[in-house]
Amino acid sequence: MRKPLVMGNWKLNGSIDMAKNLVAGLRNELSTDVACDIAIAPPVVYLDFVKHQLGGSNIILGAQDVGINLSGAYTGEVSVDMLKEVGVTHIIIGHSERRTYHKESDEFIAKKFGVIKEAGLVPVLCIGETEAENEAGQTQAVCARQIDAVINALGVQAFNHAVIAYEPVWAIGTGKSATPAQAQAVHKFIRDHIAQKDAKVAEQVIIQYGGSVNDKNAAELFTQPDIDGALVGGASLKADAFAVIVKAAEKAKAKK
Ligand code: PGA
Repeated sequence: MRKPLVMGNWKLNGSIDMAKNLVAGLRNELSTDVACDIAIAPPVVYLDFVKHQLGGSNIILGAQDVGINLSGAYTGEVSVDMLKEVGVTHIIIGHSERRTYHKESDEFIAKKFGVIKEAGLVPVLCIGETEAENEAGQTQAVCARQIDAVINALGVQAFNHAVIAYEPVWAIGTGKSATPAQAQAVHKFIRDHIAQKDAKVAEQVIIQYGGSVNDKNAAELFTQPDIDGALVGGASLKADAFAVIVKAAEKAKAKK
């Protein structure tokens, strides 16, 4: 039985004050005994501060990205060991904003996947098609290519204890979420695609949906058999909305 993961991606938002209030709000809204995993990924500069604010809570600390090198002359980079040292366990990689604005390739993202696994942490691999690719009927081909980059570099076993976030690019930050049926179809495709290599790996891998998930649409998305929680952007900046999404994931899990 897979345990859903609801993860908040704060992106380039926040301040010390905001982090303090948001974590306090989440701790207030969420019980410490939840049936799904909850994570938040603040900007890297606030990780250590947030870790302290989280003391004693079951909320997992996540990061939004990581460098591929462990140390050396790489100005501006942050290594996986540094993230691990401040308490990060889950690291988002391959977000469409990084693929687009930083020109990150599938192969480069696969390298990040490898360093995270090597450090014993959990990669949250974002995949998904653009609007143009969607309209051209390329959704499955794009998702398969993005997953195969990791399988080709590291083998399918790398997806043990890993997370995939299916985030159609046209749904991110647009308010235009995929319908539950649309998302389920792609999630099933992703799971089947991995199952062609290894059924056990496919059965346990967490596949989150992401893209305009909010307190209104989460419950229905989570009823779908292959949707294991969500990667949440905008709605993760509000404690009450994020808590509603977490509770919806718990409720759906109880029924699955
Ligand atoms: P959104 O972002 O929830 O604001 O659409 C999701 C994401 O980019 O992970």
